[in-house]
Amino acid sequence: MTTQAQTTQVSEPLTKRTAWNKLQTHHKEIGEVHLRNLFADDPQRGERMTVEAEGIFLDYSKNRITNETVQLLIKLAEESELRSRIDAMFRGDKINVTEKRAVLHVALRAPQGASITVDGENVVQEVHAVLDKMADFSNRIRSGEWKGFTGKPIHNVINVGIGGSDLGPVMAYEALKHYSDRKLTFQFVSNVDGTDFAEAVHSLDPAETLFIISSKTFTTLETMTNAHSARAWLLAGLGGEEKSIAKHFVAVSTNATEVAKFGIDTANMFGFWDWVGGRYSMDSAIGLSTMLAIGPEHFRAMLDGFHQIDEHFRTAPFDRNLPVLLGLLAIWYNNFFGAQTVAVLPYEQYLKRFPAYLQQLTMESNGKHVTLDGTRVNYATGPIYWGEPGTNGQHSFYQLIHQGTRLIPCDFIAFDKALNPLGRHHDMLLANVFAQTEALAFGKTPEQVKAEGTPDWLVPHRVFEGNRPSNTILADKLTPQTLGKLVALYEHSVFTQGAIWQINSFDQWGVELGKALAQRIIPEIESATEPPLTHDSSTNNLIRRYRGAKG
Ligand code: F6P
Repeated sequence: MTTQAQTTQVSEPLTKRTAWNKLQTHHKEIGEVHLRNLFADDPQRGERMTVEAEGIFLDYSKNRITNETVQLLIKLAEESELRSRIDAMFRGDKINVTEKRAVLHVALRAPQGASITVDGENVVQEVHAVLDKMADFSNRIRSGEWKGFTGKPIHNVINVGIGGSDLGPVMAYEALKHYSDRKLTFQFVSNVDGTDFAEAVHSLDPAETLFIISSKTFTTLETMTNAHSARAWLLAGLGGEEKSIAKHFVAVSTNATEVAKFGIDTANMFGFWDWVGGRYSMDSAIGLSTMLAIGPEHFRAMLDGFHQIDEHFRTAPFDRNLPVLLGLLAIWYNNFFGAQTVAVLPYEQYLKRFPAYLQQLTMESNGKHVTLDGTRVNYATGPIYWGEPGTNGQHSFYQLIHQGTRLIPCDFIAFDKALNPLGRHHDMLLANVFAQTEALAFGKTPEQVKAEGTPDWLVPHRVFEGNRPSNTILADKLTPQTLGKLVALYEHSVFTQGAIWQINSFDQWGVELGKALAQRIIPEIESATEPPLTHDSSTNNLIRRYRGAKG
């Protein structure tokens, strides 16, 4: 009998595949060829190596690739059975083999009337039922019809959650602030550090405050600790009236039992399902704060954006498929150049939390050391994603990207239109995007530096080697729909990479050990009497020192 893991594993190990070996040889041949030469040899390259789909334009010409590279990478995708893995995800197969779950965030944005079944149930109907419930609730809060316990309308919304139950909501709120109802204020409490909660509620009136307790499991230490502090704060402010909880707390979770235990009426609970991974959940009920901020119509537009890219990913040929190309280019640098990181650089202030969001999406998904069948990989998996909005990064870490010793492929993200047109600002912003990709790719030779009259001793310092690769992703304007497209683009790029590496991009066992050890250390720290400590000498000493310091 074969196990599920075996049936989802492609037969040939990655490093034994024909395309992998050809890519290794090919890398030896073209890896050091300079982008200056690649562009000089092909005057149309900048127009040719582009793809536009669903309103997203990708220029991937400033990558250290030739036509053959793209063909070989696509061959690798085919040998890795990417197409059948995509189909398996969309079909609702339990591709998250270690948790025996389907991976169906694509169902969260499937249009009404579509059918995707999990264990015989059409989940699309359930998705739309929850969306309707969220819309009804959002309309009541936004119109002021929903009153707090003392009869005042809600003015402050606080999402309490962490990881996927926080990063998506914060990112989307910031990204779509332009479309948000400014009468409402939004806060996001995630850290178990009490400062996060204290600062969020500072100067808020409990009578006008709504808490959304967002947790897939409703057992997460940080979220439950903050939720209990929120409960205490609210009760203290509203005369200890337990009945006030129903008017000021709602839950987003898959765990109705724990929600009820906490004291939230399950009528005020917005559900989702175990086939939605935390880091893939911003378009589920976890996005309730987003819907409250931008309204149901904009939220549905965001879902439509996600869906457009889902369909593109599912159907477009690989050489015109945006997420597949992005994923394959990431593989090229990660596995053949040994690049360890990818910088994501949005030239759009509203996307300031996008890199932080992507960190969980990419690194919790693809930070894995074994394949689906548990074999230790003998190649690098997920790179480190990081970034900051431009142009701020230019005055900080770009120095290292331009002249340091590491290869850092960059994704530049920009929009044709500004949401806040202000004099020449947007032209300057976009000029910087194009200038950076040009400077990274082509650099400045010693001859060019000398020709500027630079003294010889200073020349090496002022040389830009160039040959630093980048993608440029352009869209018309940051709208709810565009945001959905962008997020789906990266979700499916992550999928593409995970499929090639044969890893499970949908579990996260790596977070468990630290959680379990913290649960063991908490009572040791709080014990009234000196506890017996049986950790290593460093951990024992740190615990003792802290116990001593806190008295
Ligand atoms: O950090 C691990 C993790 O399980 C994430 O995957 C998840 O997004 C986060 O914790 C929060 O989990 P929950 O929504 O269950 O509180």
